[in-house]
Amino acid sequence: MAERTVVLGVTGSIAAYKAVDLASRLTQSGVVVHTVMTKSATQLVGPATFRAITGRSVSTEMFELTNPFAIEHVSLADAADLMIVAPATADVLAKMANGIADDLLTCTLLATRAPVLVAPAMHTAMWEHPATRENVERLRARGVALVGPAIGRLASGGTGVGRFAPVEDIVDEALRRLGRCGDLAGRRIVVTAGGTHEAIDPIRFLGNRSSGKMGYAIAEAARDRGADVILVSGPAALRTPGGMSFVPVTTAAEMLNAVRDAVSSADVLVMAAAVADYTPAAPTAAKLKKTDPSLLLQLKRTADVLGSIGDVPVKVGFAAETEDLIDNARAKLRQKNLDLVVANLVGGANAPFGSDENEVALVDANGAEELPRAAKRAIAERILDRVAALLAKPR
Ligand code: CTP
Repeated sequence: MAERTVVLGVTGSIAAYKAVDLASRLTQSGVVVHTVMTKSATQLVGPATFRAITGRSVSTEMFELTNPFAIEHVSLADAADLMIVAPATADVLAKMANGIADDLLTCTLLATRAPVLVAPAMHTAMWEHPATRENVERLRARGVALVGPAIGRLASGGTGVGRFAPVEDIVDEALRRLGRCGDLAGRRIVVTAGGTHEAIDPIRFLGNRSSGKMGYAIAEAARDRGADVILVSGPAALRTPGGMSFVPVTTAAEMLNAVRDAVSSADVLVMAAAVADYTPAAPTAAKLKKTDPSLLLQLKRTADVLGSIGDVPVKVGFAAETEDLIDNARAKLRQKNLDLVVANLVGGANAPFGSDENEVALVDANGAEELPRAAKRAIAERILDRVAALLAKPR
């Protein structure tokens, strides 16, 4: 994202302090963030905070000369790959809807050809006022995207609609939009993640140690490179990522159905999920009581999701192995007719489950490439480099 620029407009809602976190997260994602603050926003947060967080200019005045050769609002408007107004007050929404340009931010919004994302934050009555409703509808019709507002506690002390959306949601939506010219732009990618739960009785299940972090990292990285992502996830204690379709499932059978539905017209399937190979043959409707000294659980095979889905141009599987990593991965490559296997040695020094890091080898028909231990997001990018190359290859 090194080349991507966001012009972040901050207006005078008390949620302006949360825009600092937004600027920080975008900057950490590699986005260049120029901040434009309205006069009222500067009453709530100092420009120096945004300057320090983003390492970039912060503009507050129409006629200040940051660059003597550039007209500020035009150069900002041209530089933006995306404009974000967060928080957006009822006032700025009204100005945007009516094309009013009476300060640096509204002039920049009128001068830009970049897509615009707004995250409104205001008191419920202001959000629900017919004037604001009409303004929002006009903006939506013009292609302005909204994140939030959420329902929750408001600065006024009450609870209702009008709360600034969670910053993670705004970042997700921004990265998805910035990714639209990435190398996976327009590609449909289905990613599975997490483990499955197979019911023994209404209370117990058979599960595994997969946290879902590797699959979620792949889904987020694909989104940020422009792909339309469907994430099919087993139960995972992770935040549901934004900017993609999310399909929650519980069992291997549900995973199979969800993937079957999702892959129609997909370009890529990445099966990072740890799908149960066996499920209890006869889960009981009533809770099992500990009446016998021992208990034998009869299991039956589940359907192999990857093996049973044939018509996706690029298929990537995972192989979690405790021994003979590369040989086992090669066997899976052939047996499941895959383009790439991400081979994951588990046990010993590498304990990937729940960790933010992983150590894998990428195995394809040409050989095995061992990647150094790295953050799961970094590994996700390497996997997607291979996916992008496979998609580019004539078939
Ligand atoms: N997989 C699948 N459906 C299953 C089981 C596994 O699609 N019912 C996928 C996994 O998502 C993974 C790949 O198959 O991408 C490899 O899974 P793994 O459990 O390591 O291998 P298996 O094929 O089940 O073989 P074995 O358990 O014998 O190692």
